[in-house]
Amino acid sequence: MITVSAPGKLMLMGEHAVVFGEPCIVTAVDQRLYVTAQKTDDGKITVNAPQAKETKFVDASIAKFFSLKAPDIDDRGVSLSIRSDFTSQVGFGSSSAVSVATLMALGLIFEISMTQREIFDLAYQVTLDIQGVGSGFDIAAATFGGTLFFKKGGEVIEPLPNEIPLVVGYTGVKADTPTLVRMVIAKQKKYPEKIDRIFEAIGKLVLQGKEALLAKDWEKLGKLMSFDQEYLRDLGVSSEKLEALILSAKEAGAWGAKLSGAGGGDCMIALASDEKRKAVEDAITVAGGQVMRVTTHATGVRLETTDNQKELFIVVDKDDNIIGYKTRYECHHDKTLIHRGVGLLIFDKDGRVLLQKRSFSKDTNPGFWADSVGGHVVTGESYEEAIQREMKEELRIAPLVVFHSKFILSCLRETEMNVLFTAVCDGPFHPDSTEISQVAFFSKNELPRKLLSGEVQLTEFAQEALKRVGFL
Ligand code: MEV
Repeated sequence: MITVSAPGKLMLMGEHAVVFGEPCIVTAVDQRLYVTAQKTDDGKITVNAPQAKETKFVDASIAKFFSLKAPDIDDRGVSLSIRSDFTSQVGFGSSSAVSVATLMALGLIFEISMTQREIFDLAYQVTLDIQGVGSGFDIAAATFGGTLFFKKGGEVIEPLPNEIPLVVGYTGVKADTPTLVRMVIAKQKKYPEKIDRIFEAIGKLVLQGKEALLAKDWEKLGKLMSFDQEYLRDLGVSSEKLEALILSAKEAGAWGAKLSGAGGGDCMIALASDEKRKAVEDAITVAGGQVMRVTTHATGVRLETTDNQKELFIVVDKDDNIIGYKTRYECHHDKTLIHRGVGLLIFDKDGRVLLQKRSFSKDTNPGFWADSVGGHVVTGESYEEAIQREMKEELRIAPLVVFHSKFILSCLRETEMNVLFTAVCDGPFHPDSTEISQVAFFSKNELPRKLLSGEVQLTEFAQEALKRVGFL
């Protein structure tokens, strides 16, 4: 089982004009949508999304994934659960976030590698299939995260630095993006000269906005955003409520303010200094808006780890004397912190060794094959107690274990004082699916072949353990 999350977005400048080829600036926000995926044996695809009214973007992303990326996979049983920090009402881009997160989750559990660009392209196709219109800026934010200078269809996707001091006000009104985009398209057809001039002017503002953002010249960026709003008003996509919130924010001292997205409702944004933030937030509230506290420049689509990063590990010196306690996160980001770990190799009566394939949500070596059982020694535990606990948690077994050896191993991100145990056991094994995606027995002849063909990739701990017992 794995969980992937993708961020929401806010359009900083350039909406509508971006649909006609002008650039825009978008930032990803730390309100995330989560897709948890698990393979099933029943061949069925199930989607559970209690917060959503419909699942057409998930369904279309699944169909797109299997038709374009995994046409040869027959065993398509998968269950997907979706939850979100934000509702589809606020205009943070739940459709794009769910498409992007679904595609990445499917790629991981069916082991089809996809670059971020491939995920972007597939999710953009999903949007066009369903909505018929759209620039794809929201998909770029969900995929790549950060703040982006963007052109339609991903012709340009340029990361920009900086968190942006934004205040966000929600109007309480849900906007219908495709309808608004079509309305603007119709206007452009009717009055091409006038509307094209507006788009061109917005495009120029965006270019200046990019420079202001790079220079962290917030006052200038604020002014440019307010100019952009005037053009959006001319396009007819603003609303009374949006105008009221924008005006209040400006009167309360914001550097600038505008609608964000298609218009008609959803959110407005204001740029404000730390000193003015509270006054701007209060003004938005008094004007009938709901302040949404978000952090901009959020990380793009990512795999969420299921490992508790705050769990305390035992830190030792080279002679295994306890010198302190540090969190999993600290131990896995500092190779000088030697911490206690355990490993177990299980053999069946024919002498084959059992290995486990680590789940993709592990914080170290996701997808690699490891010792039959492994883990860390937590505060208050002995090595023996740790391996007994890990055996129960990971495989629900309790065979007799024998001490084999103790060694220090330093690998990419961590250094462990590892005690290796062995046991003989034919199962049955009940792997915990949050930790393990698969277990299998390998014979002494078979394993080297599978390593050579690349079918099996071993963790460094498993390589060391297998060498120690003479299996490699
Ligand atoms: C909608 O949030 C932004 C628009 O520019 C549409 C799009 O770019 O897809 C109006």
